[in-house]
Amino acid sequence: MFIYLFPHPYGAIQIWGVLLDFSLPSILCLADCQLQTPCRIQKCTTDFVSLTSHLNSALDGFDLEFCKALRAYAACTYRNSKVCRGNLVYHSAVLGIGDLMSQKNCSKDGPTPSTNPKVTHDPCSYSGHTGAREHRGEEQTSPTYLFCGLFGDPHLRTFKDHFQTCKVEGAWPLIDNNYLSVQVTNVPVVPGSSATATNKITIIFKSFRDCTDQKVYQAVTDDLPAAFVDGTTSGSDGNTKSLRIVEKVGGKYVEMHASYIGTTVHIRQLGHYLTLAIRMPQELAMAYEESQDLQLCVNGCPSSERIDNRGHLPLFVMGQLLPQASATHPWSVYTLETATTKCHEKILAKDIYFYSCVFDLLTTGDVNFTAAAHSAVKDVEALHPRKEHWHIFPSNESGGGDGVGTGSKFFVSSGLVCLILAVFS
Ligand SMILES: *[C@@H]1O[C@H](CO)[C@@H](O)[C@H](O)[C@H]1NC(C)=O
Ligand SMILES: *[C@@H]1O[C@H](CO)[C@@H](O)[C@H](O)[C@H]1NC(C)=O
Ligand SMILES: *[C@@H]1O[C@H](CO)[C@@H](O)[C@H](O)[C@H]1NC(C)=O
Repeated sequence: MFIYLFPHPYGAIQIWGVLLDFSLPSILCLADCQLQTPCRIQKCTTDFVSLTSHLNSALDGFDLEFCKALRAYAACTYRNSKVCRGNLVYHSAVLGIGDLMSQKNCSKDGPTPSTNPKVTHDPCSYSGHTGAREHRGEEQTSPTYLFCGLFGDPHLRTFKDHFQTCKVEGAWPLIDNNYLSVQVTNVPVVPGSSATATNKITIIFKSFRDCTDQKVYQAVTDDLPAAFVDGTTSGSDGNTKSLRIVEKVGGKYVEMHASYIGTTVHIRQLGHYLTLAIRMPQELAMAYEESQDLQLCVNGCPSSERIDNRGHLPLFVMGQLLPQASATHPWSVYTLETATTKCHEKILAKDIYFYSCVFDLLTTGDVNFTAAAHSAVKDVEALHPRKEHWHIFPSNESGGGDGVGTGSKFFVSSGLVCLILAVFS
């Protein structure tokens, strides 16, 4: 029976000949030895087979790898020496290993395989090489990851690290590629203002080989489950590691780890609204058809939806430009000064997250947006691969442009607070 497990015709074949001869007695012994801890010699053997079955005796380094596998096999039999005493398969394996080790000049002490090749070649663990490319001999460069986030009323940080503030009321796709779809629904926060915030997030993990079935996740305000809509918490029964949901704070914060596509998603509820942050490999994020071109994470908001018009949109937040008397609205409680103080308590750097926080307090008066901006910073720090890009600072250039990190200015004049969120793109 073992001979079929082991198709390669090099020296090890001798072991299988021996094992084959004695497999019948060993089965008899299994019946006798039922009450003991089982002898795991067969596990040792299959591990050895999986370590060596991909080796090619014609290639350099074969002997080295083969010796490593033999040492692991020897260690495994040694661990089983007590429970396998009297087991003929065990004893013939020990003899066979000794013969092979001397034949191949393997030293008794030396390196053993650092990882099981089954693990490093796990097709459900993204390593930056998908599709036709082979692992063999190819230099493994680590994949490039991209970050996208949405928070507040709402502020979007795209895969290109562009920062925008948008209206995007209703349902909008953030991501729509061959692996993942993410859609958000935004509703107005304050009557009469264009500010909206997210109250629903739908994520579809598309089925992928044997790693996961298609899984749909949905969160709405006050219902942030730690399970997919079908009630499961992982991608498939057989492979719980390739896709799973982790509840971090009950009803307030969940993470989704999709290791088969190297993707992590954070979803939080702060106050009455949801925030989202995603890290995904560039190679996969860019795998989409032309028809899937509306993706806010990829291309940003359409210009008609931008509150920051090419980065220079004055937004009058106190008084005339927002309808109805300020006294009847909770958002009227913040002045530029109190909003600045409030946001500075949570966000020390005067970066774009800080200005977004001030903007949100002035527009909505909802102090929970302070926490949303603070969490957005934490999500960037956890998921964005390049630390030097975590903070985007407003620059003092007034000319605009579409680069990262250009201007944001405040003007205070005649009792009217004029907030210019400049060049968030
Ligand atoms: C093992 O070592 C001996 C002596 O060092 C050498 O003659 C023999 O060719 C070696 N065998 C293999 C398979 O490397
Ligand atoms: C802020 O969040 C708390 C807790 O979720 C909620 O009770 C409160 O109403 C929110 N504040 C506003 C102004 O919506
Ligand atoms: C902003 O202005 C200061 C002083 O005027 C200057 O040193 C700094 O380089 C400027 N920053 C940017 C990003 O232009």
